[in-house]
Amino acid sequence: MKISEIQIEKFRSRTAKIGLIGLGYAGLPLGFTFAEAGFETIGFDIDTAKVEKLARGENYITHLSVERLRPLLDNGRFRATTDFSELARCDAAIICVPTPLGEGRTPDLSAVINTARTVAEYLHHGELVVLESTTYPGTTDELVLSILVESGLKVGEDFFLAFSPEREDPANPGFTTRTIPKVVGGLTPACLEVALAAYGQVIEKTVPVSSARVAESTKLLENIYRCVNVAMINELKLLFERMGIDVWEVIRAASTKPFGFTPFYPGPGLGGHCIPVDPFYLSWKAREYDFPARFIELAGEINSTMPNHVVQRVSEGLNLQGKPLRDSRILVVGVAYKRDVEDVRESPALTIIRLLEQRLAWVTYHDPFVPLLKSRHLARTMESVVLTFEQVRDCDAAVIVTDHSSLDYRMLLDNAPLVVDTRNATAQYRRSHHNVILA
Ligand SMILES: NC(=O)c1ccc[n+]([C@@H]2O[C@H](COP(=O)([O-])OP(=O)(O)OC[C@H]3O[C@@H](n4cnc5c(N)ncnc54)[C@H](O)[C@@H]3O)[C@@H](O)[C@H]2O)c1
Repeated sequence: MKISEIQIEKFRSRTAKIGLIGLGYAGLPLGFTFAEAGFETIGFDIDTAKVEKLARGENYITHLSVERLRPLLDNGRFRATTDFSELARCDAAIICVPTPLGEGRTPDLSAVINTARTVAEYLHHGELVVLESTTYPGTTDELVLSILVESGLKVGEDFFLAFSPEREDPANPGFTTRTIPKVVGGLTPACLEVALAAYGQVIEKTVPVSSARVAESTKLLENIYRCVNVAMINELKLLFERMGIDVWEVIRAASTKPFGFTPFYPGPGLGGHCIPVDPFYLSWKAREYDFPARFIELAGEINSTMPNHVVQRVSEGLNLQGKPLRDSRILVVGVAYKRDVEDVRESPALTIIRLLEQRLAWVTYHDPFVPLLKSRHLARTMESVVLTFEQVRDCDAAVIVTDHSSLDYRMLLDNAPLVVDTRNATAQYRRSHHNVILA
């Protein structure tokens, strides 16, 4: 029997041990999914606090309930560790570490490189290695492979390497890791077969593609599609605003077209780990091919100016009430990057708060998901205020940056002197209230 066949059989019989590296928003749900399917799953992370929390049966990602974690700890299917030597016992090493941008919007692959080195140290015959972190085409077959082969093992024969992008829509109850189709690209046909055997046990539909590069590019296409379309609608919003046309009504009307139109919605700017970051992985790589990725650059330019637009609208709204921005009390409502999540990475709220403070406004915030707001983008740590009638009445403007579903928008409109709404959260009350402007 070939090594690949032995390995495929281990995945099919679910006797394979899964190593999941990077227990964040992408890695943890996938780890739970493997463990729930009966695989012994070991989660690896360099963050001791996260590992200790998991060991105590606590969770740090709100939309993943502890009810999922506790049975897995009890039956021994899942455990987390910082001891990477346990990789030596794993049949698969699935890498879900961060891929942020560094200086000048260049890819920062340090976590991928460090992890690949660790995996190489414990690499053994039959092991499947999969990179899931979003990155530019060529990362798996150039960078990761070049590190793994230092072990002396041969890809496609001694070990198997693939790329499979993570797809997730945090806090969307309509999808789970299991039900979201998974694209998989291997370095060799055997690599693909082994990777499909692994994912095929836990994901309802796997989508094989011809190479790791195609799989890497697929993820980038998905995110660039979103980034460019959001930029397009953000630009139209700015134009329609000048023309006195409500962009939200236009989108609602256009959405009645039963074919050829997918609605995208304007907002205060892009946030989260993916959409503001990933497209620049491709535009950076494009330079190697002497190719200017103009859509990506333009979309980035438009989306990144949206927080400035929000601040401009706050200033205009206050001006109409005879108030300067300086010394105004501004209550930012919602700081997470999207509705009903606690994730503030790259959230436009951070830039909006910074810009408001630079203009000498007094800023507070309320977010039921974010009790403390700490970020390298902010000069100080902030604490969420309780959204009382008095808080709202005593501010000069409330700025809705994130439209969490539990917030009482009617109360805001009834009591704030001015509401600046970046999400159309006040749509149903706007006719009866004249203290609201869109931004
Ligand atoms: N969050 C999403 O919804 C999402 C969706 C699609 C793709 N992705 C991609 O998945 C990857 C991970 O994103 P995330 O949102 O899960 O990030 P995250 O920050 O939530 O989690 C990453 C985890 O990796 C750990 N880590 C960092 N360096 C490590 C190392 N050297 N060894 C082991 N662990 C390490 C961190 O401590 C952290 O717990 C990124 O490439 C991202 O673009 C994320």
